[in-house]
Amino acid sequence: MIGIYLSGTGNTKYCVERLVSLISSPAKAIPLESPDVITEIQQNEEIFIGYPTQFSNAPYMVRDFIKRNAVIWKNKKILCIATMGAFSGDGAGCAARILKKYGATILGGVHIRMPDSVCDSKLLKKTMDENRRIIAQANEKIEKVALQITNGVYPKEGVTPVSHFIGLLGQRLWFYQKTNGYSKKLKIDNHCVGCGKCISVCPMKNLALQNKKAVPEDRCTMCYRCISLCPKKAITLLGDEVVEQYRIEKYR
Ligand SMILES: Cc1cc2nc3c(=O)[nH]c(=O)nc-3n(C[C@H](O)[C@H](O)[C@H](O)COP(=O)(O)O)c2cc1C
Ligand code: SF4
Ligand code: SF4
Repeated sequence: MIGIYLSGTGNTKYCVERLVSLISSPAKAIPLESPDVITEIQQNEEIFIGYPTQFSNAPYMVRDFIKRNAVIWKNKKILCIATMGAFSGDGAGCAARILKKYGATILGGVHIRMPDSVCDSKLLKKTMDENRRIIAQANEKIEKVALQITNGVYPKEGVTPVSHFIGLLGQRLWFYQKTNGYSKKLKIDNHCVGCGKCISVCPMKNLALQNKKAVPEDRCTMCYRCISLCPKKAITLLGDEVVEQYRIEKYR
């Protein structure tokens, strides 16, 4: 078994690593941007794939990765894990449906609520204590799911026809425009000192240095990794000001 994930602020990495380690030993979970990811998928029959819910959908990078590598999913047994800041009708189903089309067997889906990763929206921010409580509940859920899976029962969150309907009508149709491609909307202000941190962490290689300043291109997958790590809080995406640089490490 292998865990693979896209994770911006560390939530999904944390959840996938924890779940995999409770079920399999030795456990392995690697990021989607890892150079070994295709080989690892080819070598493992059972795959846990995790990603953050974005506008009630799977991030474009995840859907793009699945489609570009369509041939590797045939006969794989896959559990989809969607982390989220609030709620998603069918976060896990968004990748599961594409994987199924390419011949994978979907073992199930798991939804895990975690602190919100959007660093530039006041509305979505919670106190440290509230975030601690959310993470404690997530830990309990992961342990429960690990026990179920060890007993051969895979949760079906987000992968049933009913959840597809809830996800589509309740949320995704309103947001579809926001997730139908990579984003060109990343902004970097003049506080940038050209340290290069954002460039080294971006899973999409979407940033480069020009005249000692970071400059974004047009293939951002909205993961918020660079925004959460920029030492000058110079990067924004959905909002215009960094309110809190949320990172899971602050709670570990
Ligand atoms: C662009 C964007 C859109 C998001 N949309 C949703 C959403 O529709 N529903 C939700 O519950 N959480 C949403 N979130 C919150 C993340 O899904 C959540 O915080 C997730 O655990 C982040 O995981 P990560 O740290 O692995 O990237 C969104 C986050 C971002 C950055
Ligand atoms: S991490 Fe921030 S300060 Fe450093 S290069 Fe990127 S935008 Fe500039
Ligand atoms: S530019 Fe920033 S938010 Fe966009 S994909 Fe790269 S690290 Fe993520």
